[in-house]
Amino acid sequence: MPHGQGTFEGFTVASSKSSASERILRVGVIGAGVMGRNHARVLSELPGVELVGVADPDAGRAAQAAGQAEGAEVFSDHKELIARKVDAVVVAAPTPLHHQISLELIDAGVALLVEKPIATTVEQGREIVTAAARNGVTLAVGHVERFNPAVQAVKQALAGEEILSIGITRVGPFPPRMSDVGVVIDLAVHDIDLIRWFTESEIAEVQPQISSVIAEREDIALLQFRTANGVLAHINTNWLTPFKARTVQVATRDKYVMADLLTRTVTECFGFQKDGSYGMRHLSVGHTEPLRAELMAFVDAVRGVKQPAVTGEEGVASLEIAIRCLADPHPAFRRGPRKIAG
Ligand SMILES: NC(=O)c1ccc[n+]([C@@H]2O[C@H](COP(=O)([O-])OP(=O)(O)OC[C@H]3O[C@@H](n4cnc5c(N)ncnc54)[C@H](O)[C@@H]3O)[C@@H](O)[C@H]2O)c1
Repeated sequence: MPHGQGTFEGFTVASSKSSASERILRVGVIGAGVMGRNHARVLSELPGVELVGVADPDAGRAAQAAGQAEGAEVFSDHKELIARKVDAVVVAAPTPLHHQISLELIDAGVALLVEKPIATTVEQGREIVTAAARNGVTLAVGHVERFNPAVQAVKQALAGEEILSIGITRVGPFPPRMSDVGVVIDLAVHDIDLIRWFTESEIAEVQPQISSVIAEREDIALLQFRTANGVLAHINTNWLTPFKARTVQVATRDKYVMADLLTRTVTECFGFQKDGSYGMRHLSVGHTEPLRAELMAFVDAVRGVKQPAVTGEEGVASLEIAIRCLADPHPAFRRGPRKIAG
C-alpha cells in the first residue's frame, strides 16, 4: 500500500508516515508489563512517531520496553514522562491506576490511548471521558480486537445485512499472571465491545450466568444479551479450557458468518434455497498486526486526521455492560473449588 491514504480492512487509514510538514509525534508508554512492552515495540517501529520514554516503577521492565527504541528514556514515575512534553501516551498500567493517570495526562493536555477496560468503575470511566472532552484532549480506548483482521472481515461481511444473532466463544486456560479481575472484565469486555460494534446498537437486556470454579473471582461465564435493535447475542467465556479458542458466529437474514479469530479464517454461507442448498465461501483476511493498526489509528486521531476508532464513551458503555453482568449474581453463583461428585 502506498504511503498516504489507504484502506485497512474496513477502516480508512491515513498512513502515519508523516508528510514533510508534519512534525514527529512524541509518544510515551506508562506501564511496561505484557501490553506496555508490546505498545513500546510497535510505537518504536511506527513512522512519524518518536518513542520518548517508558514509565514503570519496575526499572527492569521499563528498561526492557524502552530498549526497543533508540534514545527512549526510562522513568520510574509517569510524572517524569509527562514533564518531557509528550504529545500522546499509551496507558498500559494496571486497570485500577487508569483513572488517576488518565486525569493527570488530560490535565497536562496529553492525548491518550487507555488500555481496556477504560477504568475499574463506570463513574471513573465517565470522569475520564468528561475531563477529556472539557480539555479538548483526544481519548481512545484499547479494544484491540476490533483491529483483528478476521474481526474486520466479519464486520465487512455484515455490511447491509440484518443481523439476527451473534455467538462468541473466548475460552482458554488461566492466564499465567492472575489479575485482580475475573473473566467478565478481563475477557468478555472484548466481546461486549464487538457485539456493540457489529450491531451498531447498545445492549439493552443482560442475562448473565457466572460462576467461580477455581478462582476467587468468576472464572466461567455464559452471558446473554438483547440489543436495542433486537439482536440476540451470547458470550461463552472461561479460564477452564486447556486450549485457547476464539470464535464468532453471526446469523443474518441472508447469511451465516463464521470466524476463527486465532487462525484468522472467515467463512460465510449464503444463498439459502428452499431445498436446503446454499453457497459457501472463504473471505479474504488481512495480515496487519492488530496492535499496529490500533496505534496507527490512534496516531491519526491525535493528528486530527480522523476520530478515535474506539472512543472513551464506547469504552465506558462496554465496561458498564460487563459490570451489569456482575452486579446481580445468580443465586447459584458458586465460589471456591467444587466438590467432585462420587
Ligand atoms: N487489549 C488487550 O487485549 C489487553 C490484554 C491484556 C491486558 N490489557 C490491559 O492492559 C493493562 C495492563 O495489563 P498487562 O497485562 O500488561 O499487565 P502487567 O501486570 O503485565 O503490567 C502492568 C505493568 O504496570 C506497571 N505499573 C504498576 N504501577 C505503575 C505505575 N504507577 N505507573 C506505571 N506503571 C505501573 C507494573 O510494574 C507492570 O509492569 C490492563 O489495563 C489490562 O486490562 C489489555
